[in-house]
Amino acid sequence: MHDLRCIECNAIYSGDEVIYTCMECGGLLDVIYDYDEISLTREKLSKEALSVWKYRELLPIRRAPVTLQEGGTQLYRLTRLAEDLSAEEVYVKHEGMNPTGSFKDRGMTVGVTKAIELGMSTVACASTGNTSASLAIYAAKAGMPAVVLLPAGKVALGKVAQALMHGAKVLTIRGNFDEALRLVRDLCTKEDFYLLNSINPYRLEGQKTIAFEIAEQLQWNVPDRIVLPVGNAGNITAIYKGFKELKRLGLTETVPKMTGVQAEGASPIARAVREREERIDPETKPETIATAIRIGNPVNARKALKAIYESNGTAETVTDEEIIRAQKDLAQLEGIGVEPASASSIAGLRKLLQNQEIDPSEQIVCITTGHLLKDSEEILKICPRPIEINATIEDVRRVIFTKRPN
Ligand code: F0G
Repeated sequence: MHDLRCIECNAIYSGDEVIYTCMECGGLLDVIYDYDEISLTREKLSKEALSVWKYRELLPIRRAPVTLQEGGTQLYRLTRLAEDLSAEEVYVKHEGMNPTGSFKDRGMTVGVTKAIELGMSTVACASTGNTSASLAIYAAKAGMPAVVLLPAGKVALGKVAQALMHGAKVLTIRGNFDEALRLVRDLCTKEDFYLLNSINPYRLEGQKTIAFEIAEQLQWNVPDRIVLPVGNAGNITAIYKGFKELKRLGLTETVPKMTGVQAEGASPIARAVREREERIDPETKPETIATAIRIGNPVNARKALKAIYESNGTAETVTDEEIIRAQKDLAQLEGIGVEPASASSIAGLRKLLQNQEIDPSEQIVCITTGHLLKDSEEILKICPRPIEINATIEDVRRVIFTKRPN
């Protein structure tokens, strides 16, 4: 059993209602459970391989899930890059290894299943790309129509290709993500479509399993800190909720310091944290190479600020140059291929270590949210071109022994 509770006024709603925000005050909603009825033990959990649905007792679904076997992603301990950062123990949870190549799949397997449970017949979202790709595959699997609204010209091609191939109706709007989100919220109300942006608390329930997996992968040790990119600010709140639930159930004893990283040109949350504000001042013209997090008015800002303040975490901004450097570092020092938004976690970590805001002895987990191949156009812009030569050994040798930048 589960209910929905407003984070502002504590109003309670039944889990059977189609509702995204509080009807009393407009506040964001959290899914709540009767935790005394949940009996999860480390031993019980150790019997099943990692996956989102392994944690079904902590998920708000009663029917059979629409699943493509999401979750169970690798947790890599960094070696060469950790040395370069002068940090003792840094891990990367590579969410790019999910079915569509991003963490969104964890939320969408739950969200699309919930849509069916609630009797909805069409699903919709606004997206900077990954959410739309993910919605498209689960809608395809469920045999449901999906409508996605993208900011025209600002979505990485791989993501658009996924949404198209899996059969979503793809609309590109002349406006940014924040405008697309406003539009799709209006559309969902008028047309009775089910909204699957992260304002939908059920999606975040799927994403909180990132926390469960990290705890298990570290043998039930909670890391000192989680560092992750922040766009619409759903994931940071989801992961924090996951860690809080583990503690509430007596499976762990602490929660990590939640540390959000934003691109300098799209950083309303980091600015609010710097000023210790409870609310953000939205940006009307967000801009960054990391198009996934090119968001000026994050809907989950209130939840994210709470997560950061309560956990004694922080937020940082990084430039596009710092993002590109981190993306290359992960790729070339560790063999981990991520898209620009994901690399911002490492870029932010480097900055916070340099500014002595993070102690190098901390145990740190960075979340890399999306796969390298999502945005191959960006890669071609920042890496040297392949060198075309004649098919002779002389040409091959001449070229491989000529030094060139990487
Ligand atoms: N990293 C990637 C690769 C993303 O695609 C997103 C969000 C984020 C980080 C930020 O996560 O919004 O939960 O703070 N992408 C959304 C989308 C907005 O439409 O695909 P958040």
